Amino acid sequence: MHLETIPSRREFIAATAVGAVALTAASAVSAANTSDPTKETAMITSPAFQASDALRPLPFDPSKLNGLSERLVRSHWENNYGGSVKALVVVKKRLADAMGEKDLPPYVYNDLKREHLVRTGSVVFHEHYFDNLGGNGKAGAQERQTIGQAFGSFDNWEGEFRRIGAGLGGGSGWVVLGFNLHTRQLENYWMADHAHGPAATVPVLVMDMYEHSYQMDYGAAAAKYIDAFFENVNWDRVAARLAAASAIKT
Ligand SMILES: [Fe+2]
Repeated sequence: MHLETIPSRREFIAATAVGAVALTAASAVSAANTSDPTKETAMITSPAFQASDALRPLPFDPSKLNGLSERLVRSHWENNYGGSVKALVVVKKRLADAMGEKDLPPYVYNDLKREHLVRTGSVVFHEHYFDNLGGNGKAGAQERQTIGQAFGSFDNWEGEFRRIGAGLGGGSGWVVLGFNLHTRQLENYWMADHAHGPAATVPVLVMDMYEHSYQMDYGAAAAKYIDAFFENVNWDRVAARLAAASAIKT
């Protein structure tokens, strides 16, 4: 699923199909344990056990952001986001290999599954984060109205979003404005780390609150980073995600 877009129903079905392939891969595990080399190869090359090593390019000129230096943004993109992209490739390869080890205890396998969850979260949320930067920070009338209706006012929404971010200052985590496909509500979510993903939620606006997002420019002054983040929000992307998410039927 391309992260610059919210999944359409067709993409959802395609994703479900990928899930089916994953189940097929899981079924192939037992087959692998029967030492059928053909089925073992099929499992290792299944989509669920692979990840792309390609970094998604920054969708903006990092020298043009307001209050966020090019050095900071490039380092964040290359080292933190890029590091997770590379790590996810390694973890998935290790998972595929481990599935062929019939004597490997499940709890040891789950160490890798934990890392799989963490790295997937890091890659997905970083791609959303960079994708919703590079704008002028000015929300359009439609977004202000939609968000305002959900939170009582647009200022209410921004106040809560900023408050969650401030609470994460000095540590790690994410703040996400998301559309919950189950409750059909637009809400702000606190996430303590990459592994926290709100249930059934499509990210609409994502703010990285790991210290690596701002320490180079602002030291421990997280509030100044939050101000800078808001000055660079790409509201066109937020509007597109909102429209696409609300069109998804579950
Ligand atoms: Fe980050």
